[in-house]
Amino acid sequence: MSALTKQSAEEWTQLFDERYKRTAWPYGSAVWGKKEWVCPDLRNESVVSMDEGGSNLFWAERFGRELGMNDLWVKLCGNSHTGSFKDLGMTVLVSVVRQIIADGGTIRAVACASTGDTSASLAAYAAAGGIPAIVLLPRGKVSTAQLLQPIANGALVLALDTDFDGCMAVVQRLSLDEGIYLANSMNSLRLEGQKTVAIEIVQQLDWNVPDVVIIPGGNLGNVSALGAGFEMMASLGLIKKQPQIVVAQAEAANPLFRAYQRDWHFEPIEANPTQASAIQIGNPVSVRKAIRTLERHQGIVEQASESELADAAARADRTGMYNCPHTGVALAALIKLRKRGLIDARSRVVVVSTASGLKFTDFKLGYHEQRLPEVNALHTNAPVELPNDYDSVRRAIDTHSGWNP
Ligand SMILES: Cc1ncc(COP(=O)(O)O)c(C=O)c1O
Repeated sequence: MSALTKQSAEEWTQLFDERYKRTAWPYGSAVWGKKEWVCPDLRNESVVSMDEGGSNLFWAERFGRELGMNDLWVKLCGNSHTGSFKDLGMTVLVSVVRQIIADGGTIRAVACASTGDTSASLAAYAAAGGIPAIVLLPRGKVSTAQLLQPIANGALVLALDTDFDGCMAVVQRLSLDEGIYLANSMNSLRLEGQKTVAIEIVQQLDWNVPDVVIIPGGNLGNVSALGAGFEMMASLGLIKKQPQIVVAQAEAANPLFRAYQRDWHFEPIEANPTQASAIQIGNPVSVRKAIRTLERHQGIVEQASESELADAAARADRTGMYNCPHTGVALAALIKLRKRGLIDARSRVVVVSTASGLKFTDFKLGYHEQRLPEVNALHTNAPVELPNDYDSVRRAIDTHSGWNP
């Protein structure tokens, strides 16, 4: 940090703006454009990058209006190489591993336990860097798209008859073997990359800090990364205030929500099945870091039932989005906190959308066909099946009542 203070805040923002989304490799990546803040000792030739970050932060005008808000923004972290925010951290971890190997270190493979998105990201970056990857997934608990990603990228995919927490315990044992390098977010290299999402949000808002940021939480690495990004900007004089941070959890997997209600007294739970499968975690490894972050950011933890998360995702889809279930959890939290008056109508709020809705076809289809357990779907829009007949088509149009208002 003392080396970084040698440049002024204005010099940093100017440098970051000059590099943002340009082609001078590797600085066009929104992670590596902030390389001095992320991993300064890494040699550029070690970087494994697929142009991560730089995802859209858009003004959710219509959805905001429905909630009586005029300053609601959605940060689409799922618009990235492997379709989730995990790429922001994985580029850093895999680049460092590449440098360790180049310098003669003995790493046989990188390995992770995953609820789907981490393994997709690790497999892609390891393949790009020419490094063997092992992924441990809870069998039958990740979406088809997420399962296919590491398969396509040539990782050794191990589908275990357990849940995420079970996979995590096995990979932690595996990584005691010197040759197996742990790639889960308890490895702080991941968080160094993920913290850039905070910097990028502020950069996209012309170096202004939002009042509130809402983020879905599972293993709870991302929330501490977000907090670290905001705190680093404050330490280096780029910003003057900190946002309030809200973590949103599925009611079926809500250990942090329970801790929040008990004055941060945390106890692991067994997570129940939820459509928000990437956050079906009962014993989050980064819980302590997350609580410290929330204590410094007027933290709130909110939960969403299966009906609430599915309906929030679908309702926002009707305003042009295409939300994954985890983003649905964050949007449901927003709706509930607005109703309770804990988020003000005038606040500038950023919802972090963590993955692409395109990975969660079964969730979407199940919702519109009213097949999701515990979900009373209020915003369905099933296709109307018709014979090849002009009059039937006309009648269907004339009698349709489910138009977007
Ligand atoms: C889509 C999505 N959202 C949210 C999360 C939660 O992030 P974290 O585990 O850092 O809390 C994950 C992590 O697996 C994820 O894949």
